Amino acid sequence: MKGIILAGGAGTRLHPLTKITSKQLLPVYDKPMIYYPLQTLLDAGIKEILIIVAPESAGNFLKLLGSGKEFDARFTYEIQDKPEGLAQAFILGKTFIGDDDVTMILGDNIFVGNETFLLDAITSFTSGARVFAKKVHDPERFGVVEFDSEMNAVSIEEKPENPKSDYAVTGLYIYDNSVVNRSENLAPSARGELEITDLNNIYLEEKILDVRIYDGFWLDTGTFDALLDAGVKVRDYCNEK
Ligand code: TTP
Repeated sequence: MKGIILAGGAGTRLHPLTKITSKQLLPVYDKPMIYYPLQTLLDAGIKEILIIVAPESAGNFLKLLGSGKEFDARFTYEIQDKPEGLAQAFILGKTFIGDDDVTMILGDNIFVGNETFLLDAITSFTSGARVFAKKVHDPERFGVVEFDSEMNAVSIEEKPENPKSDYAVTGLYIYDNSVVNRSENLAPSARGELEITDLNNIYLEEKILDVRIYDGFWLDTGTFDALLDAGVKVRDYCNEK
């Protein structure tokens, strides 16, 4: 299993904080944000990690994270020239992925408090795709899972105006090797991006998407409030431990 941290993007919702630096380098309590998704992959035993960054910040990521030796891992870097969608990661990462399966985590997503659950989910993965849904109070900001009465996933809708459930797809995705080919065949959406939701729906239609409910702490830190909440939650969690 290889790992990808997707840490490009424009971070426009955090302007002016992100005008001269990348969102994933901003502090969350006592560490740069990217340390948290990195730790999630390391905790799952993933040692070969591709870090995808925007061109303006590439040097800073390299300075911060280096070869990976310090983390007992091996890091590779790839530049995403323009933020053309989450699923583009698998095209940029084609050579890195090779013949392996891959777990991707978004560089602004923080998962704490249920490491064993994620470890099990990653290490037990064999084929298809596996994603994690979390109950949230603002599902319209995310990909939203529709479930049938037996909690089987029926569809995923990207940022729906009228969400069919309160379950958001979190920024941690596990795919078999066919993800590269499937991503290469995706068409850009109306907003010009290769959508991870389109990719997940393809797996869902083929009945090989496993949607697991995640009940640990999860936040994407893309807004001022979420960034602040994340810092406070991480501090409280560290103090409890
Ligand atoms: P978003 O929060 O959707 O986008 P963003 O970070 O550019 O922020 P904003 O909407 O405020 O402009 O992205 C989620 C994560 O995925 C984040 O870590 C950035 C990353 N990302 C990429 O690396 N490349 C991309 O093409 C996109 C769309 C996102």
